[in-house]
Amino acid sequence: MNPITAPAPTPAAAPSRVHPPAPAHPTGLTLEENTLALLDRAAAQVADGQAVAAFRLLTPPLSALWSEARATGQAEAMRQWCQAHPLHGLLMQDPFTHRAVTKPRGYAGDAVMMDFIYDGAPPSGTTEIGAGVFAATTRAGMGLSVRYRRQLLQSLIDDTVVRHEQARVLSVAAGHCRELQGSLVESAGFGGEFVALDQDPLSCQEIARAHAGHAVRVVNQGVRELAGSAQGSVLADALGSFDLIYSAGLYDYLPDALAKRLTRRLLAMLRPGGRVLIANFVPGGSGRGYMELFMDWTLVLRTEAQMRELADAAGAAHVSTFADPQRNVVYAELWREVPEPI
Ligand SMILES: C[S@@+](CC[C@H](N)C(=O)[O-])C[C@H]1O[C@@H](n2cnc3c(N)ncnc32)[C@H](O)[C@@H]1O
Repeated sequence: MNPITAPAPTPAAAPSRVHPPAPAHPTGLTLEENTLALLDRAAAQVADGQAVAAFRLLTPPLSALWSEARATGQAEAMRQWCQAHPLHGLLMQDPFTHRAVTKPRGYAGDAVMMDFIYDGAPPSGTTEIGAGVFAATTRAGMGLSVRYRRQLLQSLIDDTVVRHEQARVLSVAAGHCRELQGSLVESAGFGGEFVALDQDPLSCQEIARAHAGHAVRVVNQGVRELAGSAQGSVLADALGSFDLIYSAGLYDYLPDALAKRLTRRLLAMLRPGGRVLIANFVPGGSGRGYMELFMDWTLVLRTEAQMRELADAAGAAHVSTFADPQRNVVYAELWREVPEPI
C-alpha cells in the first residue's frame, strides 16, 4: 500500500455491504510521482527551518515507498530521484548525514557518528539548516535507540560488576565505549578488568584517553582475528574469559557466516554463568528509507527470530530476546549453559 495515495475511507452506500480493498494506486500516481511529492513537501519544510516536523512527515512514508521500490525493481531509480532532488543538498548540510555519506573511516556509523547521537550537539561551523536537520536525524527513532542501547549496556556492566568481585567484561567493537562513562568500572572499588576491542586505532586512542587510570584495557584488533578459525583463536586465548561479553553496533555489519563464527567464539570465552549480549537493528524500523536512500548507510538487519537462529546455530544453550522501546533494535542474550534462576 502506498501511504501517500491512501484514500480517505469512502462512506458505505449501505451499512451491510462489504467493500473490496482499495487498489494500490487509486489516484493513478506512479511511485516516482508519489516520491517526488513527498520530497517536495519535506524540502519546503526543511528550508523553512522545520526539519523536525519534516522528518516526522518524511521518514515513515519514505520507508514504505522504499519497500515498494525494492519489491518492484525500482530501487536504483528511486535512489536517483532522491539524489537529484533539491532536498538532498539541504540534508547534506547535516554533519550526521554528511559523515555517513562521505565515510571518512571507510564505513557509515563510526564512533564519531555515535558521539553525534550521544551528545546531540552539531560541530561548530554547521549551517542553521544543517543544525535543524542534525536535531532531527540524531533524535529520530534510530538515534533514540542508540541512546537507549548505551544506557542498557551501562546497566548490564554495573550489574556484572556488583555480582562478581573481580568481574571481567569484554566489549566487542567498542567504538568510544561511552557506556563506561559513569559506570561502576570507573568506581574506586572496581577490582576486575574491562577489555575494549575495536579495529579502529582512533577509537582505541579515544578509549585509552578517556579511561586512563581505570582498569580498562584497549585492544586494537578486528573481530575476524577474535573469531579465529576452527583450530582456535590466538587472540581469544590471550584475552581470557569473561562474565559479560557484549557487542553493539557490530552485528548490523556482519554477514551470517562470520556472525555465527564470532558468536560461537564469544560463547567459548565465557566464564561459568557468564552471558553474551548482541544488539542488532531490525528490518521494520521507520528510518530505513532515509538511511539507505540519503545516508548511503545499509545495515544487515535481523529479526528476533533470526537472532534466535543465529544463537542456536552458534551453540547457545539458552537464549532470551527482547526489543528496545522504539522497536528498532533487537537484543539477544546468550548463555553457554542454562542459567540458574535469579
Ligand atoms: C556503530 S559503532 C558502535 C560503537 C559502540 N559499540 C557504540 O555502541 O557506541 C561500530 C564500531 O565497530 C567497529 N568495527 C567495525 N567492524 C569491526 C571489525 N571487523 N572488528 C572490530 N571492530 C569493528 C568500528 O570501528 C566502530 O567503532
